[in-house]
Amino acid sequence: MDLLQQLQLKHPIFLAPMAGISTPALAAEVSEQGALGSLGLGASSLSSAREQILATQQLSTVPLHLNFFCHQSVAADPVIEQNWIARLKPAFEKFSATPPTQLNCIYPSFLDNDDFLNLVLETRPALVSFHFGLPHPHQIQALKHAGILTMVSATNLVEAQLIENAGIDIINAQGVEAGGHRGCFNPEIDAAIMTADLVRLIKAHCTRPIVAAGGIMNGQQIRFMLDLGASAVQMGTAFLPAQSSNAHPKYRQALFEQRTTQISPSISGRPARALLQHWHKEIDQPTRIKVAAYPYAYDIAKQLHAVASKHGDHGYGAFWAGSNVAQIRNLDCAALIEQLTLEMTQS
Ligand SMILES: Cc1cc2nc3c(=O)[nH]c(=O)nc-3n(C[C@H](O)[C@H](O)[C@H](O)COP(=O)(O)O)c2cc1C
Repeated sequence: MDLLQQLQLKHPIFLAPMAGISTPALAAEVSEQGALGSLGLGASSLSSAREQILATQQLSTVPLHLNFFCHQSVAADPVIEQNWIARLKPAFEKFSATPPTQLNCIYPSFLDNDDFLNLVLETRPALVSFHFGLPHPHQIQALKHAGILTMVSATNLVEAQLIENAGIDIINAQGVEAGGHRGCFNPEIDAAIMTADLVRLIKAHCTRPIVAAGGIMNGQQIRFMLDLGASAVQMGTAFLPAQSSNAHPKYRQALFEQRTTQISPSISGRPARALLQHWHKEIDQPTRIKVAAYPYAYDIAKQLHAVASKHGDHGYGAFWAGSNVAQIRNLDCAALIEQLTLEMTQS
């Protein structure tokens, strides 16, 4: 049985799980159209994750994809953090505010304990995926035993081989064009491979089904990825304008006005691609000091954004977007999926 049959999909299209942007309505709408809806739960508490899953399952009975972060939790490093706070102090002062005195670990990792695993086992999605690394072997075994498909992001060949050898079902080939966080296992090692090249590379060396992600905005690009050997594609940026996405109005506006993106670790502590904004222009100077680790850096970035946006400056938001954002279309879910599937058949 191929991947689409296993997931009962009409279209080879996965809605990218997008922490902070995913909503039950968006996931359900995409799934109801015959593509795969998802919830990005990497930034959710256990209780919020449960509520979102149950709400989605009330709206739709078709397969659902859940996503979590598998970063190695690091202990606070007071010296690096104090330096980073000091570096961002002038940005706070522009808005007559003072930065926090310490940074907190605002997101747990799926690896920290089995709470999220137990939630997955209880709510039984069709697919669960992981970003930033592999789950523990006992977690993979438990998911397998429950008949839940697994997928992990790979940004280079070594990661893809680790994924395959760990017994994960699907490799999510995330090219450098992708919006949001790079899925690199080690944030210091980024091969920055383009999506098409990564699909070719993984196809040549691995046997698991591949889902291609990064910069895919239209049906022709989907077909190209399928022709290279991907079983499906995962698209994030293209779905941001959908009415039921949680994107803030200023973010939606910026997607259409500001057509360029850049990768930076300064927002969250891990490299991520966002619309070009203050982080890239002010903070990412050649003299930039070491950024606090993920998610400690994200703690202060969120506070800075909250302060700045109260003064009408939205340039410190985490406005994640892929490098092909200039091809974005203002379409709602159903219209976008219809258009994509039509384009897939056109030359
Ligand atoms: C707003 C946004 C949030 C994202 N959040 C997540 C996430 O929570 N988990 C994840 O695995 N990938 C996340 N990604 C990355 C996507 O899974 C995917 O790799 C990317 O969207 C593909 O590139 P594209 O945006 O050009 O389509 C996010 C992407 C965007 C644009």
